[in-house]
Amino acid sequence: MTGNAIVVLAAGKGTRMKSSLPKVLHRAGGRSLLGHVLHAARQLAPDRAVIVAGPGMDAVSAEARRIFPDVAVATQEERHGTAHAVSMAKSALADFRGTVLVLYGDVPLIAAETLMRLAGLAEEEGMAVLGFEAQNPHGYGRLIRNAAGQVVAIREELDASEGERALTLCNSGIIAIDAALLWSLLPKIGNANAKGEYYLTDLVALAAAAGRPCALATCPEAEVSGVNDRTQLAEIEARLQAAYRRLHMLNGATLVAPDTVFFSADTVLGQDVVVEPHVVFGPGVTVEDGVEILAFSHLEGSRIGRGARIGPYARLRPGAEIGREAHVGNFVEVKKAVIGEGAKANHLSYIGDARVGAKSNIGAGTITCNYDGFEKHLTDIGENVFVGSNTALVAPVKVGDGASIGAGSVITRNVPADALAMTRAELELREGWAARYRDIKAAKKAARKKV
Ligand code: UD1
Ligand code: MG
Repeated sequence: MTGNAIVVLAAGKGTRMKSSLPKVLHRAGGRSLLGHVLHAARQLAPDRAVIVAGPGMDAVSAEARRIFPDVAVATQEERHGTAHAVSMAKSALADFRGTVLVLYGDVPLIAAETLMRLAGLAEEEGMAVLGFEAQNPHGYGRLIRNAAGQVVAIREELDASEGERALTLCNSGIIAIDAALLWSLLPKIGNANAKGEYYLTDLVALAAAAGRPCALATCPEAEVSGVNDRTQLAEIEARLQAAYRRLHMLNGATLVAPDTVFFSADTVLGQDVVVEPHVVFGPGVTVEDGVEILAFSHLEGSRIGRGARIGPYARLRPGAEIGREAHVGNFVEVKKAVIGEGAKANHLSYIGDARVGAKSNIGAGTITCNYDGFEKHLTDIGENVFVGSNTALVAPVKVGDGASIGAGSVITRNVPADALAMTRAELELREGWAARYRDIKAAKKAARKKV
């Protein structure tokens, strides 16, 4: 086994996306398109990774670095075709020996197994292309084979004869090739074609002319469909979601209405998790065994302990850590907060930048006032604390274990363990007042009507 290097082409702005965001940074399944490609490629444990980005695409390099910290970024200042784009990666791979895989940043569903197959073929034969049978081959390069079935050329649609256009075996654009062969053939590619571009696909004919056959691997069309506009982005999203739903169900989660639940690529669900309809998992959610997530909840960047119950209508934001058997109920928002084992916040609360100790009860309408307009502050609630309804906890503030807070309080100082804290205007009672008020008002109304 020799090593692999990957080169990801991501210089396309994606004009048809009509977006200020580079195309490969658009997301599906909670992950950028580029992220999907790099995650698949990472499973090959490549020795090198190079991304070819357009000028000013710092966000693209940053995203690539999140996944491959030592990725090399090559900038393609002007687009002169796929071969020109690959040549931008040459200096980063100057001393690399092995197989180079060329991937597209906007073809996100490519499977790691397919890439491994392709790389394996290239290692044996020197070069391999990934083809697919297209339902509608329009716009794709066609794979031209000789009588022996070897791929001897790839013809772009615009340069193809009528006979060649009738072929349905198409080029995905993904290739694997021995590095030495790549760098020896690349300078020979010209731009005498309909687009006036340097086509990477010309490698195949050049190799054939030099007596080097090109191997062919195939995959289903769906795996290599690219994203050019937002309708295609939505199609990719739908395919990913269908796959995630299936995977989670087969792994032992109950999805009551699977088509209404949306996952992220990195969602982790334990066994016997029940997910009710209309739940959205943003990136970074881990759910332990036996958790129930009730309808219309939205979760991201959170960890949920065994046996906890979330929702309906709960919102867990990044940094929410929900302890075992804890309950987070309807219209409760939790952000960057640890909710202890068996603690409950069942109704209408905001718990942000906080710690809630085990078995504490957070009454309806409780708010942690974490932000003073400039900074965020911590609310630290101990164990077995009872927080009465409609309490405002003005952070930074600490409530000791076993303390009680009377409903409607505004807590601005620390509360010692086992104390009662209450801030409340005295209750005023006037016997018979409401009846008298009613009589006076009713009499006035009756008098007006007579006039
Ligand atoms: C390419 C293939 C075609 C294949 C099709 C599959 C060539 C010449 N043709 O055609 O055989 O069927 O993909 O979708 O390779 N890119 C750059 N810099 C450039 C040009 C392209 O980074 O200068 C990137 C694009 O952003 C894109 C990819 O390379 O991700 C493919 O380029 P595109 O212009 O879409 O090529 P196609 O004409 O679709
Ligand atoms: Mg294309």
